[in-house]
Amino acid sequence: MPITEANPNHNNRDIIYQPHPTQWLFHKSKARTKVLVCGRRWGKDRASIMEMIWTILWLLKNRNDPTLVPQVHAWYVAPTYNMGKQAYRELDEFTKRMGIQTYHNKHDFVIEILKNAIIEIKSADYPDRLKGTGLDVVVITEAALIKPDVWYESIRPTLASAGRLGKAIINSTPKGKNWLYDMFIAGQDPEMKKKGIIESFNFPTWFNPLIPPEEIEEMRRTMPPHKFDQEIAAKFTTDDLYVFSQYTYTHFNLVPAEPEPNAIYFAGVDWGRKYDYTAVAIIRWYPALDVYHVVDYLLLKDMEFADILQRTVDILAKWKPKSVTVEINAAQDIFYTEIQRRLKEMRLGIEVLPFRTTAKNRDSLFDVQILRFAEDKLFWIDAPEVKEQYRNVYWDGLKYKHTSGENGHDDIVVATGLALYGAEEQRSELKRRSSMDWYII
Ligand SMILES: Nc1ncnc2c1ncn2[C@@H]1O[C@H](COP(=O)(O)OP(=O)(O)O)[C@@H](O)[C@H]1O
Ligand SMILES: [Mg+2]
Repeated sequence: MPITEANPNHNNRDIIYQPHPTQWLFHKSKARTKVLVCGRRWGKDRASIMEMIWTILWLLKNRNDPTLVPQVHAWYVAPTYNMGKQAYRELDEFTKRMGIQTYHNKHDFVIEILKNAIIEIKSADYPDRLKGTGLDVVVITEAALIKPDVWYESIRPTLASAGRLGKAIINSTPKGKNWLYDMFIAGQDPEMKKKGIIESFNFPTWFNPLIPPEEIEEMRRTMPPHKFDQEIAAKFTTDDLYVFSQYTYTHFNLVPAEPEPNAIYFAGVDWGRKYDYTAVAIIRWYPALDVYHVVDYLLLKDMEFADILQRTVDILAKWKPKSVTVEINAAQDIFYTEIQRRLKEMRLGIEVLPFRTTAKNRDSLFDVQILRFAEDKLFWIDAPEVKEQYRNVYWDGLKYKHTSGENGHDDIVVATGLALYGAEEQRSELKRRSSMDWYII
């Protein structure tokens, strides 16, 4: 006896939604919990939304239990309020296009279908609001970004209520080996599948035939390999991945250099505010080859603000980079305003670019270096303390981290990322301005 009768033969299906082949495999499954681990834009949410609507419509048609109020109750759970809003828009749009009568409460993100079924959009960052009712269907979107407690303590119990269907659709791109991975493994067990308890699916982005192959190739080229594997190929990356370790043996082979006239330099500064090092990296850019050499650096610890500032100004005055990208942590950052003031006074023509770190753009400081190392476009001085920091950096499936403890720092890695960031922002502009000069090096 099947648990649901998802109905892909709805009258308007050609107009509304034509599942692509691997989406179809997902819809066909009769498992009560379906785990959909796929690459970005494979169509996880589209498939989840449609499966939810079909299930609700089937229940409305086939259920007649006056004790249930509402007749059908469903949740769409997203990691954040914003991701939930997107689901709300899509649910709204698709129910409309299917000609289903709905009533909305935009304020609470509740959609009522035919006055008898309720879909509530929930954000997992308010776990208090995830308590309570018995549910017929739950979709959890981007589940890897949601804490395991949300599933195990808040949501799963709601799926075991008398008279309710209790069906779960859990979709996500993989992010390391977390609770989603456990669910995925459970869903691979043929026994579980046979009993209709849980089934999991794993497809890469390119199984969505609507995504042009060129787009996949572009992403393969522009993403660090471990990120492509995770986000597009939808692989669970194994253990923590020390992303720079291999390069410390092959790409840290330069000897310290002195400034050369007409050479182009860029700098990056990561301030050590409390216990960290202040790190400065100076990189030389060879335009014809598009290669970067880190030619000098500073790693300062346990110093007074004035001394840190002085040493930073000194190394910048020595190399006269086109720009120095400096990390800031507030609009009126004292380190930033001071370095800017000092460099202006000295009239060195060095542009100071502020970089306000967020979780997202911090990632890009590491990404850009992984790509340049992999292309043999970035080389470092053979400095043991620097290699040690690079060896500390790992990808945990969600973000870049560094090992903790006495030697656990990544300041020089961040400083180099800032220098590269500034360089990549400006190099096309520089190249255009005097395209002849580049062949002199
Ligand atoms: N079967 C389909 N038919 C038409 N468009 C689809 C289909 N599946 C996915 N899409 C489209 O592909 C894009 C990605 O879908 P989405 O569900 O947001 O992907 P994911 O949640 O996997 O990142 C969206 O623009 C969506 O409308
Ligand atoms: Mg999605």
